[in-house]
Amino acid sequence: MSFQSVPKIELHTHLEGCAPPSFIRGLSQEKKIDISGIFTADGGYAFRDFDHFLQVYEAACTVLQTPEDFRRLTLAVLEETARHGVVYMETFVSPDFCGGGDLAAWRDYVAAMQDAATEAEAKFGITLRGIVTGIRHFGPEACTPAAKCAIETFGDFITGYGMAGGEMVGRPADYTYSFDMAREAGMPLTCHAGEWGGPSMVAETLTHLKVARVGHGIGAIEDPALVSEIAEKEIVLEVCPGSNVVLNAVPGWAQHPIVKLRDAGVPVTVSTDDPPFFHTTMSDEYNMLARTFGWGEADFAAINQTALAAAFCDDATRARVAKRLE
Ligand code: HPA
Ligand code: ZN
Repeated sequence: MSFQSVPKIELHTHLEGCAPPSFIRGLSQEKKIDISGIFTADGGYAFRDFDHFLQVYEAACTVLQTPEDFRRLTLAVLEETARHGVVYMETFVSPDFCGGGDLAAWRDYVAAMQDAATEAEAKFGITLRGIVTGIRHFGPEACTPAAKCAIETFGDFITGYGMAGGEMVGRPADYTYSFDMAREAGMPLTCHAGEWGGPSMVAETLTHLKVARVGHGIGAIEDPALVSEIAEKEIVLEVCPGSNVVLNAVPGWAQHPIVKLRDAGVPVTVSTDDPPFFHTTMSDEYNMLARTFGWGEADFAAINQTALAAAFCDDATRARVAKRLE
């Protein structure tokens, strides 16, 4: 059975990381920017490991220079994502990657993405919300302007604040300032942690950044007390199994801890992270979960309800999306 037509929610994608290599290559040719080194001979993205992935990712982002580039990107991504049954998607977007960090024009970038999201909702039946992201390896100082951008545009489309990027840089406590700012503005919060770091990174993220959701979070599995705490506090994990396998954060699908986490009562959700980088789609994620762990309709319905409850959107949107899951 293929799960392509099953309605799905994904909470953890990176907008720039959803860009097909052909899209990035096309823009690089239009703008005469030579980033040919980031592509494989057969037109995929070429990276060796996570650190190299972050470098290739950043190089790809250099061709995203105008609000129009983001409008086209958002529309293309939503058309493709909707083909896999996704009815609601949240995506991280970093002001640092818009026109090389053109923060003065941030509102224009957001307007362009929102415009495309509105068009895609009408055409393809998919709803998009944006989560503004600081980039951890750019340092805590760079996250403050990102949080300011988030707060400035917090509304119908930008509905959360988070942090992505290299995890083994400093400690979560170094990043409290931007998270405090966003929380005080009433923004829902999520942060990548426990993709590479062990349980202490996840625990410190909960303590210092006080997030409702954790990106990945799989490192928590090494500490049963922490797993119980996450379950008890109903902290939602944005699990991206295909990403973890391709980047070698886990040895393989069979060793992925998603089932152990779920069975321990942790609210888990499933997402693709950066589909063209990791050669995955939401259909592939569901098919692999079915093949590896025997997941079926009831399991997928349950994770979609978890994702729906944890979505950073208003209740009217949540009710609308709930109908599309029926
Ligand atoms: N982890 C951290 N940062 C990222 C990722 C990821 O998987 N994808 C894009 N930025
Ligand atoms: Zn991610």
